[in-house]
Amino acid sequence: MADKYVDVVISKEGQEGSLPIREGTLGPSAVDIQQLYTTHELLAFDPGFRSTASCNSAITFVDGAAGILLYRGYPIEELAESAGYTEVAYLLMFGELPSETELHEFEEAIYYHSLLHEQVLSFYQGFRRDAHPMAIMVGVVGALSAFYHDHMDIQDPAQRVAAATRLVAKMPSIAGASYTYSIGRRHRYPKRGLDYSANFLQMMFGVPNEDYEVDPILAQAMEKILILHADHEQNASTSTVRLAASSGANPFACISAGIASLWGPAHGGANEAVLAMLEEIGTPENIPKAIARAKDKHHPFRLMGFGHRVYKNFDPRAKVIQRTAKNVLDHLGIDDPLLEIAVRLEEIALEDEYFVERKLYPNVDYYSGILLKAMGLPTNMFTAVFALARTSGWVSHWLELHNDPNHGIDRPRQLYVGSPLRHYPSGK
Ligand code: SDX
Repeated sequence: MADKYVDVVISKEGQEGSLPIREGTLGPSAVDIQQLYTTHELLAFDPGFRSTASCNSAITFVDGAAGILLYRGYPIEELAESAGYTEVAYLLMFGELPSETELHEFEEAIYYHSLLHEQVLSFYQGFRRDAHPMAIMVGVVGALSAFYHDHMDIQDPAQRVAAATRLVAKMPSIAGASYTYSIGRRHRYPKRGLDYSANFLQMMFGVPNEDYEVDPILAQAMEKILILHADHEQNASTSTVRLAASSGANPFACISAGIASLWGPAHGGANEAVLAMLEEIGTPENIPKAIARAKDKHHPFRLMGFGHRVYKNFDPRAKVIQRTAKNVLDHLGIDDPLLEIAVRLEEIALEDEYFVERKLYPNVDYYSGILLKAMGLPTNMFTAVFALARTSGWVSHWLELHNDPNHGIDRPRQLYVGSPLRHYPSGK
């Protein structure tokens, strides 16, 4: 029973009523409207879910007004600074930071499951060489259902953890192979003794006829990128995974649905779109024209990497990515004119009333493209890296949903605005 209620007029005839209030640990309270339809035959109308809490979750907390992001209560800045990606994946999946032994066992399991079935690798041959890596990843991850569907009972918690671990383990190989296939290079296998990010980089950039030495600065940068992108509460792709999971669908199929949703330019596809935008702007002199276009209601162009449904302050991830991008560019001795354009564009936009009024700030995608480009990844791999990172968040939400014994299928309603009843013309 709730201990707080809100008195509202909740019936068409103006009848008074009250609805229970649910309190979380942090953040806004929620009016519990679960009985609204059964009691009052009324629906709540909230397209885009701007004011809707779709579930209870203990994984990630975002305070958009204050620009705060916590994974299981730990600030993202502290995790990006001091933790490793597999440590953060464990934290998201199981709720606590792992002990040394737990982390070692988890990393051993990740390494053990990191290989792809040779027949999975043959799927790649069916794609055109110029297929977008996200198209390949949607297909290959979904196809894993064919390999594991008969060997898993999602009612068994141990088998759920095994499937979740398998997905986190295989994503570097799947993403790496999506790139090497596109350039006609043979897939490389993960190597023992390398951490998660270093293994991903050697599978991306290693060549069959030579050993590949991973640059530790780049491996460290990749760790930060993966940690920053690992989870973000009920974003579009995570909500897609949870909706698919609620029907009891195979976890590989659920993650494939998440990858498909992440691909959109309004979501995870924005990092690729930011780089295209910066390249199109070309010089700092063109920035005012780009900003004018972004503000023009009659123009579909938006400032990619700016704005966020939840953050109405700086995205805390953007600041870490910007610092990391600068460090990597300095380390590699790269003077990327796009960084200068990005910094100048941010300065001008943040002084412009249109952006200030709408609380539009750079988000996680704004600088990540510049960093990934400096690290040698092609633009079409940027969202694939986002999907690689977000898999630990997606599987954590998948586990959380299945660990809730009361969870049934998610089935939103609608406000019907179509034709009233009519009949097929007789004699037609
Ligand atoms: C991610 O949800 C998550 O957590 C996502 C994510 C994660 O980790 O999972 O954080 C990752 O997806 C980050 C967002 C990446 N997308 C982009 O950078 C694309 C560019 N941004 C916009 O498309 C937009 O800001 C969204 C989609 C991110 C948010 O859109 P909203 O919340 O629906 O905002 P809105 O459309 O209601 O905008 C409010 C106003 C509108 O103007 P008015 O109608 O009030 O006059 O702000 C304007 C919008 O036109 N606006 C922009 C803008 N974003 C919003 N104007 C110019 N450029 C922009 N980028």
